[in-house]
Amino acid sequence: MQIFHTISEMRAWSNAEKLAGRRIAFVPTMGALHEGHLSLLREGRMRGDRLVLSIYVNPTQFAPAEDLAKYPRDLEGDLAKARAEGTDAVFVPNDAMMYPERFQTYVTVEEVTKSLCGASRPKHFRGVSTVVAKLFNIVQPDTAIFGEKDFQQLVVIRRMVLDLNMPVDIVGCPIVREPDGLAMSSRNKYLSAEERAAALSLNRSLIEAGRMIESGEKRADSILARVRSFIEDEGKGLMRIDYASIVDAETLRDLAQIKQPALLALAAFAGKTRLIDNRCFR
Ligand code: PAF
Repeated sequence: MQIFHTISEMRAWSNAEKLAGRRIAFVPTMGALHEGHLSLLREGRMRGDRLVLSIYVNPTQFAPAEDLAKYPRDLEGDLAKARAEGTDAVFVPNDAMMYPERFQTYVTVEEVTKSLCGASRPKHFRGVSTVVAKLFNIVQPDTAIFGEKDFQQLVVIRRMVLDLNMPVDIVGCPIVREPDGLAMSSRNKYLSAEERAAALSLNRSLIEAGRMIESGEKRADSILARVRSFIEDEGKGLMRIDYASIVDAETLRDLAQIKQPALLALAAFAGKTRLIDNRCFR
């Protein structure tokens, strides 16, 4: 497995692979790899002749009061996991090369970044689309794999690729959960035992909403009222809901009535840790 710390090395390797006619599959991450990331690497392994992973905690997608400084980092552990999944190359850039002095060029995706997480994290998606565009320019993948846990991020990246004519096929992979249903996230490490138990209310409320929809409930406000009260009760007062929304899964516009594909998206704080989860009704 090759490990590249500079843009020129990464680009030279990708150029050579592409010249040799090999397809590159790419999994961009911020490291602290868990089973969710490994499922993306496995998907990438099947879709490309070469598999590239990037590990970079991107500062422009964190607001000043967020957890950039304490975001979990474990480069040695990540490299061992990547190697075990058959990764061919890992790109590990640093801030100085990704954001050189006087950096001032950003990619902004408009409408689909305004709601859901974009409403409470206003510059977050500008940071994500900018760094992903830069990584695509450097790695030059044919295919890039993203998790559906960050469903809005996936919609934003698809929009950017379409709007800017980027020759990258975007693939979404299902959420990977712990055995008790908690969606895997690098931020789960921050949770105390009580907060972790309370956080299970998120997935359970999505299951409850699924039951309502299967039994014919179509009104988004009734479903959301049940989801909110469920999180409040099952979360034993430890969960603070940021949003619970039912939106069109492509436009991310609010739906009053369930019409598929619909996305039920949740964000809530367990203590100081902001968690997201979702379920897509296709
Ligand atoms: O999903 C993530 O880990 C990040 O948002 C990404 C796509 C690697 C961009 O920094």
